[in-house]
Amino acid sequence: MSKIAVVGSNMMDLITYVNRMPLRGETIEAPTFEMGHGGKGANQAIAAARLGSKVMMVTRVGDDAFADATIANFERNGIDATHVLRTPGRSSGVAPIFVEPSGENSILIVKGANADLTPADVDAAAPTLAGCKLILMQMEVPVETVYHTVRRAKELGVPTLLNPAPAAADLDVARLADLAFLTPNETELATLTGLSVGDEHEAEAAARSLIARGIGTVVVTMGGRGALLVDAGGTRRVPPVKVEPVDTTGAGDAFIGSFAHFYTEGLPVFEALTEAAKYAADSITRRGTQRSYATLADFRARFP
Ligand code: RIB
Ligand code: NA
Repeated sequence: MSKIAVVGSNMMDLITYVNRMPLRGETIEAPTFEMGHGGKGANQAIAAARLGSKVMMVTRVGDDAFADATIANFERNGIDATHVLRTPGRSSGVAPIFVEPSGENSILIVKGANADLTPADVDAAAPTLAGCKLILMQMEVPVETVYHTVRRAKELGVPTLLNPAPAAADLDVARLADLAFLTPNETELATLTGLSVGDEHEAEAAARSLIARGIGTVVVTMGGRGALLVDAGGTRRVPPVKVEPVDTTGAGDAFIGSFAHFYTEGLPVFEALTEAAKYAADSITRRGTQRSYATLADFRARFP
C-alpha cells in the first residue's frame, strides 16, 4: 500500500554545465554534459522514496527509449509504477537544462506525453489513491487533470498538495480551494494572486488571501532565504540552511518530496518543513537532479 501518491510529470533531464550562457546567434563550448531522470513529479516521488516512503506514481511516458528508462528508474527506486501509462506516437517529456558556475540553472521543458495525462487516468488510479495519506501535484501536466485530482481526492478523503510550478497565470484558485497545501515560490505566489510580492510582508498577505479562499496551508518557498508557513494559526518562518551551491536543479522538488515523507511519517507541518529545508540544501551540494537526492541514512549522516 502506498503512503504518498504523485499525480504529475516525469522528464529526462539533459543537463549541460556551462561557463556562461551563449548569446543569440553565438556558438560556444561547454565543458560537460550529464543526462539524468527528472521532471517535477518524478523528482518529488524519488525524494520521498529515497527516504523510505512507499510511493506510487500516476504519469505518462511516450513512445521512445526514455519511456522504458523512466519506468525502470521508478521500479529501481521501489516506486509503484502500475499507473505509469504510455502514449503511442508521442515523445517522453524532456528538459534541456543549463547550469552556470554559480549553481543556478535555466530550464526548458518539453512536456511530451505528460501533456496527455487525463482525468480518466486519475480515475483509473482512484482505488489505489484512496489508501494514500497525501497526493502531490505540480503544473507540468494539464491543468484540468490537476483540478480533477483535487476534486477526486476530496471525495476519497485524501489531502492534496499542489506545487504550482512552473508558474501558470490562468490558474483558477476557486478550483484549488480544497487543497490542504499550496507551495508557491514568490513569483508563483504573485502570479496566482495578482498581488505584488516584493518582500515578506507582501508574501504573507498574498498567502493569507489564498487561505481566505479556502486553501488549508500555504508554504511560500524563498530559496536561500528559507520558507514561510502560513495557515489559520499564524505565520512561521522555516529557517534557511546555508550550503555551498553546486547545482540547484530539483532542489525545490527535494523540498516537497521530503516534506511529504516527514509529514506522512507523523511530524507536525513546521518540523517536517524544517527537515525538508535541510534535505533540499543537501541536494544542492551535488550535481544532478534525482541523482543528488540522499537516502535517509546518508541524509542523517550529514544532518543528524
Ligand atoms: O524542478 C526541476 C525539474 O524541472 C527538472 O528535473 C526538469 O525536468 C523540470 O521538470
Ligand atoms: Na543537485
